[in-house]
Amino acid sequence: MVQPIFSCMIVIPGPASIELGGRIAGELGLEPKPLDYRVFPDGESYIRLTSQVACETVVIVQTTAPDPDTRLMQLLLTAGTAKDFGAKRIVCVIPYLSYARQDKRFLEGEALSLDVIFRLLEAAGVDDLVVVDVHSAVSMNAIKERHDICVHNVSAMPLLAGYLERQGYDGAYSLSPDKGAVHLAEAASKVLGGGYGSFDKFRNRKTGDIEMKVKDLNIKGERAVVFDDIISSGGTMARAIEALRAQGAAKVAAACTHALFMGGAEEKIRKAGADLIVASDTVETPFSRVSVASAVAEILKGL
Ligand code: R5P
Repeated sequence: MVQPIFSCMIVIPGPASIELGGRIAGELGLEPKPLDYRVFPDGESYIRLTSQVACETVVIVQTTAPDPDTRLMQLLLTAGTAKDFGAKRIVCVIPYLSYARQDKRFLEGEALSLDVIFRLLEAAGVDDLVVVDVHSAVSMNAIKERHDICVHNVSAMPLLAGYLERQGYDGAYSLSPDKGAVHLAEAASKVLGGGYGSFDKFRNRKTGDIEMKVKDLNIKGERAVVFDDIISSGGTMARAIEALRAQGAAKVAAACTHALFMGGAEEKIRKAGADLIVASDTVETPFSRVSVASAVAEILKGL
């Protein structure tokens, strides 16, 4: 039997992360503690703790897609209740942090959504937040400064790149669809070799349409992988894959941390010419071939 590493830490997988929460607990040598939950017919969430939490470090694992508002509410209810029952420290692992893309007021009068999420977590008594490949670490760090929450940002890129290496992409060129995500391609290229770079993407904030500036990458006959934090509609990834194919790339893969895959995304990306699609398990989908459990557990071991 695996001995628990921590006698005073318990892991509660939230309704959206039963599998990943179980994997994280397993990495720590702990049994996951179940949460009693349901959603009433009117959409309200109910939760009840089934374990003693007094004097414990309580780790709640809950991703926030699909259905971000319900998932966030379940997380807040769980954290607030653990606090009420005497938890010593509340650690929220939110593998995919929704609302993180709205980390600025792009238009006058807009909500600064990520800041409001931090306020809510703080009010629920959260001490530590662990996220995976948050949309912009720079913006999140600026927002974090205004709150009393310790934040840890884990990257799935080395894990995704390791998977791709085993699938025949060793030495492939790593690319991000926009400059803001070039650190993802850089991290992946440390595993794959083969160099890295980015295209340049602009989003019209009123229509949501994207425009991509494509440069010549001298990629004819080569293999390439496009790395992004999120695939949602698939539009960004499809444009990047299409551009690589147009430049004569021999084999192209699409990799992301958070696979939201809203209606038709897979078809769009395959039609653009992707040979392989891979994602992590921050959002559980058929593309989740890589687990972030070990990387998250490493952070938890250091708390
Ligand atoms: C945005 O900047 C993100 O990094 C992703 O590129 C974006 O969210 C992907 O969205 P979609 O799949 O809808 O193009």
